Amino acid sequence: MACKRGALIVLEGVDKAGKTTQCKRLVDALLAGGRPAEIMRFPDRTTTIGKMISAYLERKSDLEDHAVHLLFSANRWELVPLMKEKLEQGITLVVDRYAFSGVAFTSAKPGFCLDWCMKPDVGLPKPDLVMFLQLSPADAALRGQFGDERYETKVFQKAVQQKFEHLMMDRSVNWQVIDASQNIEDVHNNITTHSLNAINVAQNRPLGELWK
Ligand code: TMP
Repeated sequence: MACKRGALIVLEGVDKAGKTTQCKRLVDALLAGGRPAEIMRFPDRTTTIGKMISAYLERKSDLEDHAVHLLFSANRWELVPLMKEKLEQGITLVVDRYAFSGVAFTSAKPGFCLDWCMKPDVGLPKPDLVMFLQLSPADAALRGQFGDERYETKVFQKAVQQKFEHLMMDRSVNWQVIDASQNIEDVHNNITTHSLNAINVAQNRPLGELWK
């Protein structure tokens, strides 16, 4: 019998919500429980496209807003063959940001609509579960200063949060909102419970296509 596929699990949220910490904790917990799992993150700054994105985020280069949106999407598409291969091998992928960040961040810029922003990512592997780590701007501020990269300002992050809220109304995606103001352990336990459910469901279902 062919091995059961892994689940595609995405963590999204505004800055300071703890996505990266929680992705690592989740992968460690899955591995400790004997479930193959790997972490991925977008943007993946190691590829040629990813290096262009990284230079843009670090303000070392300027790119036109539409162009950089398409680069973020291309950075996901270039990794699709690898993602599919791993999922087919039964490896669960825990992904730190995905197309939802792509749409939320670009559509928070003036002159962009959600619809245009979603188009390039239509057909990507569809996550079995997307967890949104919810944190109020006040709680985010308590966690320290924003960094120096592009987009790391209070005003922009607030606009991004509103765009995520629009995206979460889409019932075709399995969204779960996680209260990220809890302590790290409680957030982790909550995330693990949702993930184990998603892994069980995903193994008997084909991988879907996002926004199709
Ligand atoms: P990170 O590497 O710290 O997660 O930051 C990446 C930044 O890029 C973050 O501000 C969110 C933004 N972003 C986009 O604008 N579009 C995208 O498609 C993705 C994945 C991230």
